[in-house]
Amino acid sequence: MNRLSLKTENQKVTILTGNKILNKINFKNFINGNDICILSNSKIAKLYLQQLKKKLNNFKINTFLIPDGEKYKSVNILNKIHDHLIKNKFDRHLTIIALGGGVIGDLAGLAADTFLRGVNLIHIPTTLLAQVDSSIGGKTGVNHRLGKNLIGTFKHPSAIIIDINFLKTLPDKQFKSGLAEVIKYGAISNRSFLNWVNKNSNKILNQNTDSLLKIINFSIKAKIKIVELDERESGVRAYLNFGHTFGHAIESAKNYKGILHGEAISLGMILAAAISMEKTNLSLEDFNLIEETIRKIKLPTNLPKNLSKSKIIKYLQYDKKKKLGRNNFILLKSVGSCCVSNTITTKYLIDILDSFRN
Ligand SMILES: NC(=O)c1ccc[n+]([C@@H]2O[C@H](COP(=O)([O-])OP(=O)(O)OC[C@H]3O[C@@H](n4cnc5c(N)ncnc54)[C@H](O)[C@@H]3O)[C@@H](O)[C@H]2O)c1
Repeated sequence: MNRLSLKTENQKVTILTGNKILNKINFKNFINGNDICILSNSKIAKLYLQQLKKKLNNFKINTFLIPDGEKYKSVNILNKIHDHLIKNKFDRHLTIIALGGGVIGDLAGLAADTFLRGVNLIHIPTTLLAQVDSSIGGKTGVNHRLGKNLIGTFKHPSAIIIDINFLKTLPDKQFKSGLAEVIKYGAISNRSFLNWVNKNSNKILNQNTDSLLKIINFSIKAKIKIVELDERESGVRAYLNFGHTFGHAIESAKNYKGILHGEAISLGMILAAAISMEKTNLSLEDFNLIEETIRKIKLPTNLPKNLSKSKIIKYLQYDKKKKLGRNNFILLKSVGSCCVSNTITTKYLIDILDSFRN
């Protein structure tokens, strides 16, 4: 078992990673009281709830399950979680455990931050995306009918338990979607890591244990480094959005149907890297390394045929990270070195989109 830690303004978050580690965790190290509420969804509960409950048999355990899906990351479900916690008369010594992917993690984080002005939280992420990204850094949130993640807070857990054994049941498409974020960490922070992913794509896709642990530990360390420098995203944390400006616009333009987050982010990274070649002198060699790695991981490299560029441009206008009417793009000077640009015009974006048609 590997132990990492994230030092935030007010607390230390312990991050444990490994294979089949759930049964080896001493939860008493991260829990003060006796009451636990496990938050999960029906699909994940079927696979892992009994195993977790057995491990926690010294505590008083309560569970709250929600239906599976992004559409349940809502204020309505958050209210239902609050109703459940209040009806069960939990006090401030409660620990909420999030057992699931990013949807469960974001909801549980917000519930733990708002119930009685804050109770203890533990993340047990079960998707690759949640293990390398959403469980780390403290962002919580639910969607509003006018946009994604518009309601949220920052709430760090006391511990994050990252067991790659959960990934065995994860659908292949979801696994690859998480790999897009792994490629992102390489692109923004470390050329030799990105080269390694490129050369070892088969081992990674086959979920070789050592390879999985290597990419997960690298990604977490990369995220810790950035979050420790800029917890509230007033500076360098924005680099984590590499590929996300276009990616979010593509997801919105597709109405979040038929494209996973990581697939959209892969296209966003290629577009941002293409812009970087012209605007910040990214070399063709670096562009090719990013594009080839995405291709080898079997993520998309061309825009979907049925997606009009005017729709993508329309959704770029709605980007919540826009400043003074312009989109902020994270560009690369080279693999491992980022900058922020808000000088990209709509006309330029249209031209770039034209060059990425199938
Ligand atoms: N807080 C943050 O910093 C942050 C960062 C990135 C993304 N997010 C959020 O994360 C969410 C996406 O997370 P996600 O990709 O994990 O999606 P998800 O939570 O919807 O999980 C994807 C699917 O996999 C299933 N699943 C989860 N674990 C499984 C397992 N081990 N075996 C089989 N099936 C399993 C889920 O039930 C679901 O159907 C979005 O809402 C996004 O906004 C948050």
